[in-house]
Amino acid sequence: MAHSHAHGSAPRPSPARIANIRCILGVGAGKGGVGKSTVAANIAISLAKTGSRVGLLDADLYGPSVPIMLGLKGAKPKVNANNKIVPAEAHGIKAISIGFMIQEDMAVAWRGPMVGQAVTQFVRDVDWGELDYLIVDLPPGTGDIILSLCQTVPLDGAVVVSTPQDVAFADVLRAVKMFSMLQVEVLGLVENMSYFHCPDNGKDYPIFGPSNSDRHCAEHSLTFLGALPIELGVSPNADRGLPIVVAEPESQLSQLYVQLAATVAAQLEAKFAAAEAQPEFGKGFFSEAVTDYEPPKPHTH
Ligand SMILES: Nc1ncnc2c1ncn2[C@@H]1O[C@H](COP(=O)(O)OP(=O)(O)O)[C@@H](O)[C@H]1O
Ligand SMILES: [Mg+2]
Repeated sequence: MAHSHAHGSAPRPSPARIANIRCILGVGAGKGGVGKSTVAANIAISLAKTGSRVGLLDADLYGPSVPIMLGLKGAKPKVNANNKIVPAEAHGIKAISIGFMIQEDMAVAWRGPMVGQAVTQFVRDVDWGELDYLIVDLPPGTGDIILSLCQTVPLDGAVVVSTPQDVAFADVLRAVKMFSMLQVEVLGLVENMSYFHCPDNGKDYPIFGPSNSDRHCAEHSLTFLGALPIELGVSPNADRGLPIVVAEPESQLSQLYVQLAATVAAQLEAKFAAAEAQPEFGKGFFSEAVTDYEPPKPHTH
């Protein structure tokens, strides 16, 4: 199980790692409405079902939907004796949403630095306890809000969510470029609402047109993490606070979320293992010789 491993020591220039959180995964998108929050919540619960300790941080101030999706609407997190915010809990995960903290129409007036600060507080001043995974439902797009967020939350990797349309890929590609610019590794792309599997005749219907994401990903050296179907049970259950992996764990979509969670977890483990295996340059071998070393004086003529 993930939490039996030692804490990872992946090199990270900035921001600083958080001691009790082993890894932080961002879920991002080029635009809203593609299913980012649904992916984030179902991955989080899938990881928890395998025994990992998981937190979900809803940082999407444009449309914080985690409270409704987890059945936590109206929750008012308390502050404990140590002055830390106590996260809400549902379906085996801990959750904090920007939606718990702000009135519904307030967020739009926020600027990047304010959000960055608020989210930093969510990560660092929330009593998460020990977590194996913190999943962050990121705001969509490439504006200053997500920029400052990526500079304050030490993301170990990001998954981006798109839909089959070519325009959606163009948007998500901008988000991918932004992540690489910020040195956040993009673990791969998930194509959501790719097709509808008709239970009556067993056929798959590409409602939003044929999928090109695997080809687009190959062209841009991006890992294609797979295509998720439109499932009729998703929206009505989510509105009742039941993510599909809870409401219909046997459904095809739920099984795909479980696989997706396992793939992403394995990618993060591989990344940590690689970082641990990397020797620090010259460590041990040079340690004695280097103490006597005098750098040459610069020429002054
Ligand atoms: N695979 C899916 N099948 C059916 N409905 C979906 C699926 N993924 C997401 N939805 C629904 O689409 C809407 C938008 O999803 P959401 O996760 O809120 O998007 P985002 O966070 O990107 O804005 C929600 O009503 C959600 O229940
Ligand atoms: Mg959302």
